[in-house]
Amino acid sequence: MSKVTIVGAGKYGSTTVQRVAAADIADEVVMTDIVEGLPQGLALDMNQSRPLERYRTKVIGTNDYADTAGSDVVVITAGLPRKPGMSRMDLLEVNAKIVADVTREIMTYSEAPVIIVVTNPLDHMTTLAAEVSGLDRNRVMGQAGNLDTARFAHFISEAAGADVLDVEALTLGSHGPTMVPVPSQCFVGGTPVTEALDAETLASLVERTRGGGAEIVGLLKTGSAYYAPSSAAAKMVKAVLTDSGEKMPVCAWTTGEYGIEGVYLGVLATIGAGGVKEIVELDLTADELSALRGAAGAVAEKVEELHGLDLG
Ligand code: LAC
Repeated sequence: MSKVTIVGAGKYGSTTVQRVAAADIADEVVMTDIVEGLPQGLALDMNQSRPLERYRTKVIGTNDYADTAGSDVVVITAGLPRKPGMSRMDLLEVNAKIVADVTREIMTYSEAPVIIVVTNPLDHMTTLAAEVSGLDRNRVMGQAGNLDTARFAHFISEAAGADVLDVEALTLGSHGPTMVPVPSQCFVGGTPVTEALDAETLASLVERTRGGGAEIVGLLKTGSAYYAPSSAAAKMVKAVLTDSGEKMPVCAWTTGEYGIEGVYLGVLATIGAGGVKEIVELDLTADELSALRGAAGAVAEKVEELHGLDLG
């Protein structure tokens, strides 16, 4: 019996629930929210789509954390999204309180879940969930790399006029200004992207990827992106549930890789039933490596600030 909990029935949470349920690999997906009726109504609607979409996974909508008991995987989406003009870091204090509370509730009812954090600022909220939960660090990870990588791949495919499915892309680092798109690991139909696109175009795509979330926030005016973000989170959930060992970029606890340790940062890792199995160290260029180390420093600095907050 496999059970997934998604905390937060907003756009990001509910689309993640839908994607995980439709994959038909969990017995049950629990969706919790503090708004009464919202998770229940969405769950009822989703469950009624099962005969049409042909899957069995049942969604339970609830306001009670007791219903999350015994979860194998928990995705924390709870928290405020950005408004136009805000950086993810502007959410640090308000979302830290929410993520700390949610993590305590989850740990009251589940002994050793794998926790996937998507709340922003991502690297810091992942750190917080790991600290509050007391779980092994490999059981707590954050979603950012799949999303940022998918955005980079989309932009590369458009610029190169290539089939999006022929593009291999990768971003590492933080989910913010110190994001590290990694052109040395990107290919268009097997050709290095550094040959497929000129340097100026590639540099503009790197910048657009770094600002990929803000671009959508600016267009939507209320709320942030959720279609690609939920695909990104669901991909992680599926890898855990099926113990696939699939390689993907995630925000993981570093233990000396690239000369970085003791910080949650976007790296390539293999994902399975226990969360992060192994961080895969890549042969980065000197510039990429120094950008990654810079990202680690920037995350660590803000984690200090996080530790200064009173989170109850
Ligand atoms: C984004 C938010 C979800 O990048 O962080 O769209």
